[in-house]
Amino acid sequence: MAELIKIAIVNGPNLNLLGTREPEVYGSQTFEAYLSELRQKYASVEFSYFQSNVEGELINKLHEFAAAHDGILLNAAAYTHTSVAIADAVAAIKCPVIEIHISNIFAREDYRHVSFVGSYCIGSVSGFGLQSYELGLQHFLMANPGK
Ligand code: DQA
Repeated sequence: MAELIKIAIVNGPNLNLLGTREPEVYGSQTFEAYLSELRQKYASVEFSYFQSNVEGELINKLHEFAAAHDGILLNAAAYTHTSVAIADAVAAIKCPVIEIHISNIFAREDYRHVSFVGSYCIGSVSGFGLQSYELGLQHFLMANPGK
């Protein structure tokens, strides 16, 4: 039987409020509902999920997840634009990380056009709503054909 591909999703600050947070920007689905759809659709993927509003907790989890996953989908949310520490964590770990954004950060305020984490990610997906996570996932599926 084929081995499961192990993918971690790490969400940063305020993404726990998806569903009610600025629905005109982020949509009206909760992340938990979206994740359960992903789990049903991709039975060959074992998903781990972590969300925190605390920078250090995100860093600790990136270190932990890196050891046991084939890839990480990271939406560092506002920390994307401010956190050298999260960028350093992405640079430090061996596990490939894809930067994810629900909204198109380049179509928004200037301060969102800068990404500290993006320099160390293998790629970025921005602007496709929650589908951005699935598009990032497609890369990891293609990169791990035996799984
Ligand atoms: C976000 C974009 C960030 O600029 C913002 O701070 C977020 C969410 C997105 O997914 O579109 O919290 O990362």
